Amino acid sequence: MTKFKTLDDLGDVRGKAVLVREDLNVPMADGRVTDDTRVRAAMPTVLELADRGAKVLILAHFGRPKGTADERYSLRQVVPALSAVLGRPVSFVAAGEQPDLADGQIAVIENTRFDPGEEANDPALIQKLASLGDVYVNDAFSAAHRAHASTEGLAHVLPAYAGRAMQAELEALEKALGQPEHPVAAVVGGAKVSSKLDVLRHLVGKVDHLIIGGGMANTFLAARGVSVGKSLCEHDLTETAEQILTAADAAGCTVHLPYDVVVSREFAANPPSLRTCNVHEVAADEMILDIGPAAVEALADVLKTCRTLVWNGPLGAFETPPFDAATVALARTAAALTGEGSLVSVAGGGDTVAALNHAGVADRFSYVSTAGGAFLEWMEGKTLPGVAALEAASR
Ligand code: 3PG
Repeated sequence: MTKFKTLDDLGDVRGKAVLVREDLNVPMADGRVTDDTRVRAAMPTVLELADRGAKVLILAHFGRPKGTADERYSLRQVVPALSAVLGRPVSFVAAGEQPDLADGQIAVIENTRFDPGEEANDPALIQKLASLGDVYVNDAFSAAHRAHASTEGLAHVLPAYAGRAMQAELEALEKALGQPEHPVAAVVGGAKVSSKLDVLRHLVGKVDHLIIGGGMANTFLAARGVSVGKSLCEHDLTETAEQILTAADAAGCTVHLPYDVVVSREFAANPPSLRTCNVHEVAADEMILDIGPAAVEALADVLKTCRTLVWNGPLGAFETPPFDAATVALARTAAALTGEGSLVSVAGGGDTVAALNHAGVADRFSYVSTAGGAFLEWMEGKTLPGVAALEAASR
């Protein structure tokens, strides 16, 4: 079980300066935040600390400015969205300025990545940041796969605690793959096997059912000798796919590949050549774009026997109808089982949140992570430096 200190272990913080690492790496268009999910995730920790009388100094990165002060990546742009979500004034500390806050006030410090010491985890920057605060709170699970000054280094020099979002994330992940209730199912979708090889290798030793969808299923089908026509398929990885299937067999993990599929000769919305067929009947000029309805029904039956589900990646080309059908149907089954109390469902990474939002069920899963790369590294079984540092600080 992951051990770390939380805000419950933090004593009286009135008058103390608390450095809070949040993930404010949000999508922006025309200077406005277009999705404030991560801003909202920061709210519980920031408000709790402010209400407890701390001077709250938020540290975060935005984009990849590569160690230079580049106005396009200034966190100044995110301050209005943060202030709106928090319902409080939020001040901004520009590069080179010193924060000056009264108890209970909140400020955002300029993009940590403007300083090359951030990504280098440079002791000089760590000391400079540490001098601004009495306590460090890491609330950014989605940046915890980076061993940077503000995500890892600070935990070694200041008393370190997990914020509420980090705590919720780690507790949910523990229930999903750390100490899960079995049977456990994992849904892994997305375009390419190559981006998820380590995820698949790790999962076959952890879960009872591995459901493979998306473009990557085609590589596994090809490995099993199925002709996948013009489908997206990494033919050079069929041998690797074969090894994963063998490892799954040895570990007692059942791998589920689709036996019916939705195909088309062109990739477009509702194309005229759309049809559903057995996986062995894909023509040479057709592409597989979604899992078929019979496979979805069988997968729903699998989920009904499971107690835990981890979901990463869509099952089909879900952004283009009707190739969203399998993802939507299976996500709704998972949400219903979660609602009935028979399934703990945890999802995250890349397109997954968008797919679950599209299915209208993101708020009906037990937990949906806002993390991309960090969620994948966690699914690979890797130790995340930011989390490891919090654990070390609790010893
Ligand atoms: C993310 O958006 O996944 C995190 O904020 C990490 O960003 P990075 O990939 O630029 O380190």
